[in-house]
Parts: sequence; structure tokens; C-alpha cells
Amino acid sequence: MIRNVGRVAAMATVLAITLCPALAQDKAGNGLAVGRQMLAEDNPGELWVERGRRLFHEKRGPRNASLEQCDLGEGPGVVKGVFAHLPRYFADTGKVQDLESRLLTCMVQLQGFKREDIIRTRFGTLDRNSDLEALVSYIGAASNGMRMNVRLKHAQERDMYKAGEYLFYRRTGPLDFACVTCHGDSGKRIRLQELPNMTRAEELREIIPTGWPAYRGTHSTVRTMQHRLYDCFWQMRLPDLGYASDLSVALTTYLYHSANGGVINLPGVRR
Ligand code: HEC
Repeated sequence: MIRNVGRVAAMATVLAITLCPALAQDKAGNGLAVGRQMLAEDNPGELWVERGRRLFHEKRGPRNASLEQCDLGEGPGVVKGVFAHLPRYFADTGKVQDLESRLLTCMVQLQGFKREDIIRTRFGTLDRNSDLEALVSYIGAASNGMRMNVRLKHAQERDMYKAGEYLFYRRTGPLDFACVTCHGDSGKRIRLQELPNMTRAEELREIIPTGWPAYRGTHSTVRTMQHRLYDCFWQMRLPDLGYASDLSVALTTYLYHSANGGVINLPGVRR
């Protein structure tokens, strides 16, 4: 059923772009932006938000516990506003964590799930939904309307930010690409995909807090920021990005802090 919603939604985007050339041209010739806007008005990601809400409150796992004792930074069970301040330092783990790595901690510690099992099913497929993709959608949407405000108060948070910034600009791998190779100029694209210029705060503020989690039409599911980065690592032909690894959190700390001030509106809609 959910699959069908995805297909219909993807078809609607294609139709919208083909049938409304005039509208598309209005937006500086940007048909994709117009399609995206139309899809956002009827975002299939809402289904993930609802499933995430149920999963959050349901008693599950070997310990038969809900996530209502999970502290995402604003106290046990609080979801409203947490997205605006993540990634952040957590004293109990002694680490800077983003939403996904923090959820992993809660699912292991409170619910008794095995870390490897959650990681194996972190990305949904057409036959199997991912709990994380739903939970991240629910928790992200609970901060809608608020502004990104990653504070970097703790020394470890500042270190993670610096590491993320370094990684963003450092060329590496067989193709000698850095993130900035593809995301450092305005108006660049790969085939039909526009590449946002992530060295401009204005673009970051618009994209990041309205982007991930995002319903991806081409994947017929919601994808998270960890998945987005995993995908870009693949495009750089780097070894797989470890889910919730320090490397990934350094990058998310850099990206989310750089998007401070942008208004959260999740889940987003992407190609
Ligand atoms: C080879 C080119 C390439 C490199 C290098 C690259 N990316 Fe990407 N990135 C893309 C493409 C293509 C997209 C998808 C654009 C689309 O479909 O709209 C994308 C999208 C993104 C997005 C989502 C933008 C949005 O519209 O919401 C983020 C965030 C991102 N990349 C971060 C990174 C980071 C961080 C790195 C470095 C680790 C990186 N990328 C390296 C090509 C690249």
C-alpha cells in the first residue's frame, strides 16, 4: 500500500513537470523545484511520521519497553524541539551524537535490541520498512516551525564541528573528490540533479532543515541524513560510511551547525 503511494507520488511529480512547462519556467526554468513543491503539498512522508509515532510509544524489543524514557537531549521522552539542537554531546555515552546515533543508543539500552540487527535494517527496502526511517521522521517533524540551533557549547561538540569542516574540504579516495568538489559552487548539476552550494549559509539554511529525513520518490521511502551521506560516499567511491560512526557525526555536526537559523520543515521531499 505504502509502495503504491510512493509510485503514485513519483508519477505525479513527472506529470506535474510535463504538464506545466509554463509554471516550471516561472521558477527560473527549474522544473524539478516545481515538482518537488507540488509533491510536498501531499507528502507521502506523513505515513512515516505516523508509523514513527506509533513505534516510539509502543513497548517493543527483548525488554518490552517503549522509547518514552529515551533522552534525545531535552529530557526523557521529549521529542519536541530536539531536532533543532542535534547533534549534541551526551554525558551518559561521553559522545557527540546525532539523532540517528542517539536513537540507536536508546533502542539498544532501553529496548534491548542488538546494535548489529538495527544497523542491518537501517535502510528500508521495497519489502521491508526501516524502523529508524520512521522514528527519525516522527522526531524530525516534532520540531517543525522551529529554527536550527546547534550550539557547540561542549568542547567535544566544537571538535566534531572542526573535524566535519576539515572532512568537507579534504580531497580523498580514488577520484580525489572532496564534498566541496560537488557542493562548492552554485548552479552546478549532475545530469538533472542540481548540486546545492554548501559553502553558502543561505543555501544550507534552506536545504538542510527541510531535507533529511526526506521522502525520496526514486526510492519510494523516506531516507535519513545518514543515508544521504552514505550515498555521497558511494558517489565518491569511498568505503561504505559506517552508520552512526564518528566520521558521519562529524559531518552532520558541521552541516547542521552551518544551517543554524534555517526553519525546520520535515520530512522533506527529494528526488
Ligand atoms: C560526485 C559528486 C558528489 C560529492 C563528491 C558529494 N556529493 Fe553530496 N550530493 C551529490 C548529489 C548528486 C546529490 C543529490 C542531488 C539531488 O538529487 O537533488 C547530493 C546531495 C547531498 C545532500 C542533500 C542535498 C539536498 O538537496 O537536500 C547533502 C547534505 C550532501 N550531498 C552532502 C555531501 C557531503 C557531506 C559530501 C562529502 C562527504 C558530499 N555530499 C559529496 C553529489 C555529491
